[in-house]
Amino acid sequence: MISCGKFAYYSGFCKAYPNFNNKEETMIGTAKIKYIELEEKYGAHNYHPLPVVLERGQGVFVWGTDGKRYFDFLSAYSAVNQGHCHPRIIEALTEQAHLLTLTSRAFHNNLLGEYEEYITSYFGYDKVLPMNTGVEAVETALKLCRKWGYMIKGIPNNKAKIVVCEGNFHGRTSGVISFSTDQQSTEGFGPYMPGYQIIPYNNLAALEETLVDPHVAGFLVEPIQGEAGVNVPDDGYLAGAFKLCREKNVLFIADEIQTGLARTGKMLCCDYEGVRPDILILGKALSGGTIPVSAVLADDEIMLTIKAGEHGSTYGGNPLACRVAMAALAILKDEKLAENAFYQGNILREELRTLDTNLINKIRGKGLLNAILVKTKNGKDAWELCLALKENGLLAKPTHGDKIRFAPPLVINEEQLMQCIDIIKKTLREQ
Ligand SMILES: Cc1ncc(COP(=O)(O)O)c(C=O)c1O
Repeated sequence: MISCGKFAYYSGFCKAYPNFNNKEETMIGTAKIKYIELEEKYGAHNYHPLPVVLERGQGVFVWGTDGKRYFDFLSAYSAVNQGHCHPRIIEALTEQAHLLTLTSRAFHNNLLGEYEEYITSYFGYDKVLPMNTGVEAVETALKLCRKWGYMIKGIPNNKAKIVVCEGNFHGRTSGVISFSTDQQSTEGFGPYMPGYQIIPYNNLAALEETLVDPHVAGFLVEPIQGEAGVNVPDDGYLAGAFKLCREKNVLFIADEIQTGLARTGKMLCCDYEGVRPDILILGKALSGGTIPVSAVLADDEIMLTIKAGEHGSTYGGNPLACRVAMAALAILKDEKLAENAFYQGNILREELRTLDTNLINKIRGKGLLNAILVKTKNGKDAWELCLALKENGLLAKPTHGDKIRFAPPLVINEEQLMQCIDIIKKTLREQ
């Protein structure tokens, strides 16, 4: 614990408030400090949140314990696409919670089949394998890919390789970090799992070269690298990569956990290039921010390579998740959230580009998955800018020191978006 002012607080707090004193304590609120201190004392220090304590959310807004209202410009890393506490999702959740929440897959339940039919026809696949968190779905996709590689493609046992991209983020398990190129995610967590080939993102020539190896079973890719700072590949990259995979009988696996479910202005980001992934991975907004629900979709040739007892999860496909996911998916279509994300995203980027500021290096994104790259030379880094945005009523989170993601819930309307742009303009003027 580091001391600043007359109190001792956690290091992030002191970084956020270097000149902490009584005046600032009044500003932050003593109650809020208590919540933060409890987390610091009793929780693992594996996150570095912005110093704001939230207690309520509705639509595009969240409220702090001090009653202050904020625009949410992160949407829980794109899990809250349908907006906070969407009434239809909450109704499905609470109704089902009174009936049946978990059976495990030892028994059938009356909702799993209905959900499986719903989601497979929604995305046009033969089968779904339900999981919970995003990284579990990624692990599932990797296991499916390997099984397919051995059973269908005929790769010799234990020789299957999966190609991945530099700068990827697919989650935090030991298996998945084995192919991360982010030192923070990997250092001190070895040994790592073999069988991955890392190539540069957005580079078809590198992919083509790698696919010459007959032991390659799959290519795992994010249609836009979200955690890397909304790294948008060139037009044609996904379609080109898919074509190369087809030519070499390699599975194209799309991790649409962050980019999918209307976030980028289409139902799936791959839709922009008419690509239908062989394995599609979904998570986050599949529950609209209520409970962990993820899914892997594929056709029979791939999905049926995994047999009873070979893979699973106690909570995967639980009735509560099934009800919630059907409601969450229905809302995306009923409220035309992909269309809204497309429309509002264009406005957001256009407005940001007109800003007269030397603090922003670059603006990039698709739909409502956007990021600004912040110039750091005058000492105003992304963290400080996020603190200033928070003071003005907008919550965004920096990544990699110089990038800020702008990703509000997709239910945002034009008037609200213009208010957010005004907050961003005002904040930049004040720096
Ligand atoms: C593209 C992508 N894949 C996987 C994950 C991991 O999801 P989870 O945190 O639910 O395990 C994330 C989370 O941010 C993600 O953005």
